[in-house]
Amino acid sequence: LNKDKPYSRIRIAWKYLKYYFGAASKHKVHSPFVYDFFVEVIGKTRASRNKGVEQERARLLRSKQVIDFKDYGKNGNVFRKTVSEIAKKSLKKRAHARLITQTAKFYEAENILELGTSLGITTAYLAGLKNTKVVTLEGDENVSQIAKGIWGQLGYENVISLVGDFDSNLDNIPDVQYDMIFIDGNHKYEPTLRYFKELLKKSTEKTIFIFDDIHYGKGMENAWAEIKKMPEVTITLDLFFLGYVFIDPTLTKQDFILKL
Ligand SMILES: C[S@@+](CC[C@H](N)C(=O)[O-])C[C@H]1O[C@@H](n2cnc3c(N)ncnc32)[C@H](O)[C@@H]1O
Repeated sequence: LNKDKPYSRIRIAWKYLKYYFGAASKHKVHSPFVYDFFVEVIGKTRASRNKGVEQERARLLRSKQVIDFKDYGKNGNVFRKTVSEIAKKSLKKRAHARLITQTAKFYEAENILELGTSLGITTAYLAGLKNTKVVTLEGDENVSQIAKGIWGQLGYENVISLVGDFDSNLDNIPDVQYDMIFIDGNHKYEPTLRYFKELLKKSTEKTIFIFDDIHYGKGMENAWAEIKKMPEVTITLDLFFLGYVFIDPTLTKQDFILKL
């Protein structure tokens, strides 16, 4: 039995319903830190809209260009796909991209690291903020070329893109302390924990970690459960499609499930 397999659609839908009816709303949380997150991040995602980036996404969604895509998340198998198919399947949706961007804005993240560029849409959102420097890692050369074209088109010069397996490139990232780290690729138990532990070395007490798809399958749910237990971790936020991890030791250790 492969625990890293994604859950079936039915299972995800069921889990989502349970999340939806169990998650706390703004008025139910007593933590001032989390209340602020509700008001300033969840409540203000529109402040992080970016029309230029969404025009690029729309262009990708229409693109019939065919590329060979080596899927590092799926054992490095090569698939021939249209850009449109990849854009549909791999990119973070607009609402989530805005949420992540508003997070960076509110907590004033400057050095941002992304694992999993794909076609570079979330990267572009983050690069569109004032004062950010974004480092993004991607295994597949062809998607990252398209992503670079998009950042060029938008005039964003504050992105460093490293192509190759995450494992080899984690050692090659610029040696700075990252304020925000978005882990959005290789949704499996063992690598997720390994990246987190590795990247704790590149973080400060104020660093925000964001994990994509924490309910993707048993493997990711187990990884999420272990992350929550780690002594460095204080506040965690389960937003179903995204999991936030704060390691600021001045915060009281507590896990929240929040309604988006
Ligand atoms: C879900 S997509 C990223 C989407 C993007 N962050 C966004 O917000 O639109 C995940 C990407 O991670 C890449 N990836 C997965 N595992 C990898 C690995 N071990 N090394 C390098 N790249 C990997 C895949 O090729 C894929 O393009």
